[in-house]
Amino acid sequence: MSSHLDPAEWVFQSYGRACNDPRFFEVFYSNFMGKSDEIRSMFVDTDMSAQRGLLRGGVMWLVMHARGMSDTKIRALGESHSKKQMNIHPSLYGQWLDALVETLNAFDPEFNDELDTVWREVLNPGIKLIQSMYED
Ligand code: HEM
Repeated sequence: MSSHLDPAEWVFQSYGRACNDPRFFEVFYSNFMGKSDEIRSMFVDTDMSAQRGLLRGGVMWLVMHARGMSDTKIRALGESHSKKQMNIHPSLYGQWLDALVETLNAFDPEFNDELDTVWREVLNPGIKLIQSMYED
């Protein structure tokens, strides 16, 4: 049990254990696209091997943001995912986070219910910021 750690530090270490396995991002996209045809259809023309690498960095930015890093990278995601650009509706982030936590559960050997809650709480401010930029 690692719950003596600061929440953002605990999440950082969990991510390190989980994404050590290169299949992590394949399974994430399979879980995420399995959520709905709408989500699957957004990735029909995507080079998924490039996308998996981009997501590795994107999740790391969210985690680093929670550890106090500036919000520059998160704001860039807010812009690219906004209505004017990729048009990712704010309602889709709940399924994104569910897919991420399901994948962490499968890949982090130390995953448990407490870590499930901590992951959601730690990523929430960054996700909220991205969602808030949808209409700008
Ligand atoms: C906070 C959660 C998310 C993170 C960290 C994230 C991260 C990324 C990153 C790093 C890229 C590469 C382009 C860029 O840097 O802007 C990207 C592209 C993309 N994301 Fe997200 N994303 C998130 C949520 C979502 C959601 C909820 C959807 C909805 C389906 C989505 C759909 C897409 C699509 C369609 C692309 C472009 C794929 C292509 O190039 O064909 N993302 N995302």
